Amino acid sequence: MESLSYDIVILGSGIAGFTAALHAARSKAKPRIAVISKMHAMRSHSVSAEGGISGVLYPKIKKDTEDLHAYDTIKGSDYLADQDAVEILVKNAPSEIKFFEHIGVPWNRDEKGTVQQRPFGGMSIPRTAFAADKTGFFMMRALYDQALAVENIEIFHEHLATAIVLDKGRFAALPTIDIATGEQRIFRSRACIIATGGFSRVFGFTTTAYSSTGDGTALAYRAGIPLKDMEFVQFHPTALIPSGILITEAARGEGGYLFNAKGERFMERYAKNKMELAPRDIISKAIISEIEKGRGFPDKEYGYSYVHLDLRHLDRRVIDEKLPMIKEITIKMLGIDPGDEPIPVRPAAHFTMGGIHTDIKGRILSQEGRPFGGLWAAGECGCVSVHGANRLGSNSLSQCSVWGRITGEAAADYASKEGRPAESEEIVRKIDEEERRISGILESDGSNNPYEIKKMLNKTMDSRMYVYRRVPEMRKAIAEISRLKKEFNDIYLEDRGRRFNTNLRDVLEIGNLLELAAAVAESAVRRKESRGAHSMVEYPKRDDKHWLKHTLISANEGKIRISYLPVTLGGWKPEERKY
Ligand code: FUM
Repeated sequence: MESLSYDIVILGSGIAGFTAALHAARSKAKPRIAVISKMHAMRSHSVSAEGGISGVLYPKIKKDTEDLHAYDTIKGSDYLADQDAVEILVKNAPSEIKFFEHIGVPWNRDEKGTVQQRPFGGMSIPRTAFAADKTGFFMMRALYDQALAVENIEIFHEHLATAIVLDKGRFAALPTIDIATGEQRIFRSRACIIATGGFSRVFGFTTTAYSSTGDGTALAYRAGIPLKDMEFVQFHPTALIPSGILITEAARGEGGYLFNAKGERFMERYAKNKMELAPRDIISKAIISEIEKGRGFPDKEYGYSYVHLDLRHLDRRVIDEKLPMIKEITIKMLGIDPGDEPIPVRPAAHFTMGGIHTDIKGRILSQEGRPFGGLWAAGECGCVSVHGANRLGSNSLSQCSVWGRITGEAAADYASKEGRPAESEEIVRKIDEEERRISGILESDGSNNPYEIKKMLNKTMDSRMYVYRRVPEMRKAIAEISRLKKEFNDIYLEDRGRRFNTNLRDVLEIGNLLELAAAVAESAVRRKESRGAHSMVEYPKRDDKHWLKHTLISANEGKIRISYLPVTLGGWKPEERKY
C-alpha cells in the first residue's frame, strides 16, 4: 500500500476545503498540501450554491451593521448559535467577499459599480452578495484556478477516504481508495482539515448532490469523535417537484410569492411582516401546514403535494439577469417558463446544521472538550456552532470562507511547529486493519442489496424525520435504521474488481449515511422541544429552561453516548421569535 507524506491533508474540495488550502499554502512555511476529493474536485457540491453569500459590505450607505447581522443570525438560529462564533462570522464575512472579488468572482453590480446585495430570509437588510444564481460555481471556479497555480497544493481527484486514523488524541493518517485503480493509498501528515460538506443525502428528497453523504463526519464519528446538534437538519422551502432541485431563495429575495391551492399568499398567516422572506424553518413549516390542512396541490404521480412559487409578476429582465439558472432548470425539468407559469415546490433536506464538534477556531474536540492534535473541521461538516437550530440562507458560504481561512492558517502554523507526523505501532495496526476491512467489503457475498437498504433509509427519513416530527415516528425511525444497519452487515457487491468500482464507493457511502441517520434520529428523539428546524408535534414550544443546550453524540463499539453542552450566550438574550 502506497503511503504519501504531506504537511497538511485537506479532506474535501468544496469552498471550505479550497479556501483552507489556499490560505495554508500562502503561509510563510509554504507547507506541502494534499487536497483529497472523492470526485473531480470541481464537482464538489459547493458548485451548486445558488443565491449568494452574506456580509455587511456598505455599512454607511445601507445603514447596516455587523451587530445587526449577528442579531439576525442568532434570532434565525432560534438562539442555539454560539454567539462568539456568530461574532467571528459577521466580522470576517465582508473581507472574505472582497477576497473572492480579488480572485475573480464576478459579483453582480449596479450601474455605479457597487456590488449588489439581495434580500434573503431572516435578514433585516439586503446583505447577500451574488453572482446571478450561480454564486457557488463562480466561487469554486476562482478558488480552483488559484489552487492550480500554487505549487505547494496537490489535488487528488477521485480518492475516497475510508477512515481517519488517530493516535493518542492526535491525527495520524487518512487511508483512501484511488477510485481509478482501486489502490489503497495512505496520506500521512501533521495536520488534517476535514471539509467534506453535509449529509442531507440521508434523506431521499433533498436539494443536495448524490455525493453529499457526510463522509468526513461519519469517519470522524467512527473514530470516536463526537458530533454536535445532529437533530437540526434544514429543509429548504422551495425544492422543485419531483426532483428536489433547489429553486433558490433568491427567487423570493427578488420578489417571488408563495401561493396555496386556494390562491392565498399563505405566509400572511405565519410571518406577516416578513412573508416569503421569513427564515427557512418557518416557511417550511408553513408549507407543510398548508398541505396538511388540504390547501396544497396534490401530486398524483409522486405523492409530493406542493405549493406554488410565483414569479410571473416580476420584470422578465430580473429573471433573465438574476435568476437565469432557475429559468433554465424549470424549462428543462418541467417545461415551465417561470415568467409564464408558477413553479411547483415543497421543502427538501438542504443543509445539516449539526456535524463534527469543534470550538470556534474549528479545532475538533473530544466529548470532554479537549482538542485533538492537528485536526480541524471547516464548512458544513463542522458544527462550530454558528447556525444553531436554523441557518439563515447565504450564511453558509460566509461560514465556509471564514472557517476555511481560519483552519487553513491554523493548520499551517501547527504543521510548521509540530516536528513529524505521529508514528506508532498502533497506527500501523490500524492502517493494516483498514486495508483488510476494505478487502473484506470487496468480497461481500451476503444476501442484501445495498441499494435497497439506501432506498429504505431514505424512505424512513423522508417519512419519519421530515419537517414535523412525532415521537412514535422517530422511535420507528430508530428501529428501522437499526434493522437496516444489521442488514448492511450482510450485503453483496456486484462488482468485485478494483478499477473504477463505483459499487464499492456507493457501499462505503451508504455505510456512512446509516451511521449519520442514526445519530440524527437518536439526537432528535431526546430533544423534547421545538426549536428552529427541529419541530416536535408533542412539544410545540421552545423550552429554554431545559433545552438551551447543544447535543453531543458519540459512539463506541456500537454504544452511543449522549451529553449536553451549554450554549455560549453574549449580548443577545433569547426572546420570542416573531417575523
Ligand atoms: O436558496 C439558496 O440559494 C440557498 C442558499 C443557501 O443555502 O445559503
